[in-house]
Amino acid sequence: MNSLSDQAQLLIDSNILDKAVIALENRLKHNPDDLKTLESLGRVYRQKGELLKSSSIYNKIHEIQPENQAANYLRNLMCGTVSRIYPPGNYCRPCPFVYFQDFLPHNQHRTLLKLIRDNQHEFQSGTVGGGRYEKAIRHQLVLIHKDITSIIEHAIISNLPNILSQIQFTDVSIKEAHINNLHLALTHHGHYGQPHKDDSGGKHMVTCVYHLYEEPKKFSGGDLILFDTNVKENIYQGGEFTKINIKNNALIVYPSDYYHQITKVHCPGVDFIQGRFAVAGHIGFV
Ligand SMILES: [Fe+2]
Repeated sequence: MNSLSDQAQLLIDSNILDKAVIALENRLKHNPDDLKTLESLGRVYRQKGELLKSSSIYNKIHEIQPENQAANYLRNLMCGTVSRIYPPGNYCRPCPFVYFQDFLPHNQHRTLLKLIRDNQHEFQSGTVGGGRYEKAIRHQLVLIHKDITSIIEHAIISNLPNILSQIQFTDVSIKEAHINNLHLALTHHGHYGQPHKDDSGGKHMVTCVYHLYEEPKKFSGGDLILFDTNVKENIYQGGEFTKINIKNNALIVYPSDYYHQITKVHCPGVDFIQGRFAVAGHIGFV
């Protein structure tokens, strides 16, 4: 792993963030309106994936400092609303995202898991750009299966106006939208995805990832890290991110030009079918 991805994985694997929460909460007991402490706590909750707690901290900052646009942006983002107005400046911005829980009806979710079980011998090593297999970058198994991808494609198309308006892609033509590269990926024990952005060829593009797995959940990790990114300059900060703790039957959507990563999955000895599955693809525009 390179040093930047180590930074995020290390913070998550260690109990540094848990210890930081205890220390910061203690400090707030003595000085509840201390802005530096509040900002640190909002950031730590964001990195732990405790997004509602993070939102309430940013809400408090915004109450103390109504002119603080960054706090307002993060308050909204952490509770699932992408603001149309970004805080000003050219810097690494927190990645916008929208989460759709219970995305598919339960019968379709069950159908997908059955199709996965029936086709488990067809999975192959996932590739990176240009069709190359590079374990150091992407360690997953992939299946291209039309019956599986068409269920997700249909659900995304049916919800397209809502998806695009919630992620604030309002300056695109829905008529010209098309869904590309849909595939199913298995992330099992020891698998991960290194930090990358999805190649859009310089065009506006949205990444969609639908997560599913057998209940009860038998793995840990496999969560999504959305790095704070300066899209214009194509740089990101390895230690500044939002962690999305993935949920079953949920779709997450974010702009493809923000860097992201999948944390390492841990499920030794667990059956193939009880791993972490995701159907991923992109919404592009002509
Ligand atoms: Fe990606």
